[in-house]
Amino acid sequence: MKIFKEELVKSKNYIGGKSIEEVAGPGRKIYKLSSNENALGISPKAVEAAQKAASELHIYPDGTPDKLAKAIATSYDNKVSPEQVLIGNSGSEVIEILVRGLLDKGSEYIVANPTFQLYRILGIKMGAEQVDVRLKENWELDIEGIVNSFNDRTRLLYITNPNNPTGTIYSYQELDELFKHVPEGVVIVYDEVYERYVDNDNYSTAMRWLDQGKDIIGINSFSKMYGMAGMRLGYGYTNDKLADYLRKLTRPFMINSIAIAAGIAAINDGAFIEKSVSHVKQEKKYLYAELDRLGVEYWKSESNFIMIRLSERASEFEEFMLAQDVMVRPVGYFGAEGCVRVTIGTEDGNRAYIKGLEKFLAQ
Ligand SMILES: Cc1ncc(COP(=O)(O)O)c(C=O)c1O
Repeated sequence: MKIFKEELVKSKNYIGGKSIEEVAGPGRKIYKLSSNENALGISPKAVEAAQKAASELHIYPDGTPDKLAKAIATSYDNKVSPEQVLIGNSGSEVIEILVRGLLDKGSEYIVANPTFQLYRILGIKMGAEQVDVRLKENWELDIEGIVNSFNDRTRLLYITNPNNPTGTIYSYQELDELFKHVPEGVVIVYDEVYERYVDNDNYSTAMRWLDQGKDIIGINSFSKMYGMAGMRLGYGYTNDKLADYLRKLTRPFMINSIAIAAGIAAINDGAFIEKSVSHVKQEKKYLYAELDRLGVEYWKSESNFIMIRLSERASEFEEFMLAQDVMVRPVGYFGAEGCVRVTIGTEDGNRAYIKGLEKFLAQ
């Protein structure tokens, strides 16, 4: 149709991990290790708060929403103010807001690949051009390649740290070096949705550079450690200037009351957070030992998933594991050809995965 925007007609939507219903019939027990959800579920306190909020759904939610923004600011020891927090219906929505606010036809944004594919999908819809800078050996940043890609059309630089699907991190030392070269007028989108799983002194959140006065936005999500992927809740934190500007793209009462209540309860449930993080840490030890025993190539992860390399057998592995009741995610789509990303699941799920992998390698 004539009134359709050319860039939207040409664009495609993001291909997300499949749901259990899509791949299995009713009643079949499946270990879903394909979407990096929290193996321990959701905080019981968040569920309780959601149920309570459900009985008051006839009332509009807190419009801003102030209380949730305050709770998020508190989770950063108030190093940011609630006004610096931009809340969305998922981390993906926050990224979409900033893409709508900052990209247009003819502009460019830089992405270090392989990584999360949503950036490409959203950028194309705005008619902007993605400039890909491939990661080096062992998924290290090509700082020189990125610096050479800046020009006067560049608007955004995406840094996904920890990176999805590799699970690896970039050190703050190398990012200090890179960020020195980011020109004025380019916003750094620092996607840190797996940040709470990091156990490495060389890592830093976006806060380090926000403190230095950079134009940077930290993107976070309630889908991972907080175990609320089905709720769709996320946020960004940034400087006042960017927060005020991006907030213009939000709608009144954009976040629903259940998400607000559950989000606040989840932030305040320190015991559940600790349990979730230590579960992943503990299970990593088991998984590394087993992957070593089986001689599978993998990368040490700072996230709640581990990427392995199976080369030309990667997509065959997805089917094979499904027959063993385990869902995994081949990540050629993310630019990591021949690799498979496997979420750290429950103890049982992880053992079922390793058992299946061993069987697969033996055939
Ligand atoms: C790197 C990265 N960023 C952002 C997101 C978006 O998370 P959500 O939209 O569920 O908040 C994901 C989800 O998988 C992700 O892996």
